[in-house]
Amino acid sequence: MKLLHIDSSALGDNSVTRELTAAIVAQWSAGLDGVQVEHRDLGRDPLPHLTGGSLAKADPAEAAEAERALQQFLDADVVVVGAPMYNFSIPSTLKAWIDRIAVAGRTFRYTEHGPQGLAGGKKVIVASGRGGLYTGSPADFQEPYLRQVFGFLGIDDVEFVRAEGVGLSPQHRAEAIAAAKAAIPQATASLREAA
Ligand SMILES: Cc1cc2nc3c(=O)[nH]c(=O)nc-3n(C[C@H](O)[C@H](O)[C@H](O)COP(=O)(O)O)c2cc1C
Repeated sequence: MKLLHIDSSALGDNSVTRELTAAIVAQWSAGLDGVQVEHRDLGRDPLPHLTGGSLAKADPAEAAEAERALQQFLDADVVVVGAPMYNFSIPSTLKAWIDRIAVAGRTFRYTEHGPQGLAGGKKVIVASGRGGLYTGSPADFQEPYLRQVFGFLGIDDVEFVRAEGVGLSPQHRAEAIAAAKAAIPQATASLREAA
């Protein structure tokens, strides 16, 4: 069983989502034999943004790095994604990773019946951090976007663990992190059954 652990916060060790992804990975893999965890920290080691040169594979080193990121995603059975809300959406580092894993012919394809995801069978858990309160808000372009992206790639099994309102006060932050951590067992239950 392979678990891919993705972080994308720019806040280093002061990151809420990093704390949550670490807790999810630890709780899920505890007691399971043979779990291989690979960690990609996009905040510390970002992938280059996509350019025309990237699409043309003009730089062999960049093309090889992109292929590694894609293959790492394809190989994973479980993907744990740390996704802070930045300007109503996701960090550009996470978007740059998505641009490398959403590849026609590898993770999706177009058919006469419409698009078809090719990366099904994985489970995704997203650790979401938000300064304000956005659940159900039309200004939330983070969670619906991530559901759309993973669904498009064929992954419908997507769970969210949310810490909301962390910017409202230190007390809100502490309570939101505690509530998110308390939600981890339920969010990972289906993963443990499948492991
Ligand atoms: C550049 C930037 C943009 C942000 N934009 C939003 C936003 O649009 N809405 C919101 O509720 N919080 C916003 N926040 C607050 C973060 O979502 C919040 O601090 C969250 O905990 C970030 O996760 P992290 O601690 O793992 O980095 C923003 C923070 C930063 C640094």
